[in-house]
Amino acid sequence: MASNNDTISKTLIVAISLCLVCSVIVAGAAVSLKEKQATNKLNDKRANILIAADLLQKGDGQDVEKAFAEKITPQLVNLAEGRLVTDAEKQEVTAAGLNPEVFDQKKSSKTPELSRALDGAEDIASIKRLEKFAEIYMVKENGTVILPIHGYGLWSTLYGFIALEKDLETVVGLGFYAHAETPGLGGEVDNPSWKALWKGKKLHNESGDLVLQVVKGKATPGSQHDIDGLSGATLTSRGVSNLVQFWLGENAFGKLLANMKAEQAEQVLELPADESAEEASQEEQAEDAATETVDETEEAA
Ligand SMILES: Cc1cc2nc3c(=O)[nH]c(=O)nc-3n(C[C@H](O)[C@H](O)[C@H](O)COP(=O)(O)O)c2cc1C
Repeated sequence: MASNNDTISKTLIVAISLCLVCSVIVAGAAVSLKEKQATNKLNDKRANILIAADLLQKGDGQDVEKAFAEKITPQLVNLAEGRLVTDAEKQEVTAAGLNPEVFDQKKSSKTPELSRALDGAEDIASIKRLEKFAEIYMVKENGTVILPIHGYGLWSTLYGFIALEKDLETVVGLGFYAHAETPGLGGEVDNPSWKALWKGKKLHNESGDLVLQVVKGKATPGSQHDIDGLSGATLTSRGVSNLVQFWLGENAFGKLLANMKAEQAEQVLELPADESAEEASQEEQAEDAATETVDETEEAA
């Protein structure tokens, strides 16, 4: 006699078993893919750092992890003091639950011990909190410096990088790797021809004021500091202008950039002194050699 499968209890058993099997498969996949997802996320960030520094073109098939390791040196810096972090500060980062070697700046801005609230007048990028430390990236071969930047556009916070030449004054490139602005309007921040407008622009005018900005409409031809606004996206353009001004300004990387420039100037000033020291030691060596020759000649006589 055939058993009756058409009962509520049997239907429930089949449905619950199916749910359990599916949830085990989904949970298993999520756990096993977690590490891969984290690596992909990190490599996406690395790719954007390389792109900002003109060391990688999107989709050119380079091994991002290898290129990053070969070409870039990450450095953790103290923003307020404009210098590299100390070992004690690295421990402070670790104690707050972050890794100082692969620094998560987004997470650190949400960690009270590692960030401070910005007041309205300071907060031109609309980011609410400023992290104490930031990871910057130096290009080994040419001294290009890549700085992380973020700030509010119209609908979203845009996260990206700006790269500066070794002179810390000339823009190499700018790009955003995360935002939710409208495609075709604010989303044009990703348009390669708009991003190309940044290359070669200067941060400061002759009086030392930070004047790099996105203007409404077209920039004056030949302007060293102005970038065309995105058409139909004045608010995103203003947001980008504000966030660039914030991060290059005195509340964020301004102090570091000033200190690095002063260090470069010192090295340039030190060079003649070094050269003269070298010359003096060469003269001394020549004198010693001459005295030795005279002594040898006297001995021979
Ligand atoms: C559906 C929709 C999406 C929009 N997305 C953006 C955007 O991503 N960024 C932006 O600045 N403006 C966006 N705008 C336009 C703004 O609302 C605003 O009109 C515009 O920034 C003003 O630019 P304009 O002065 O150049 O016209 C959007 C408008 C609409 C209707």
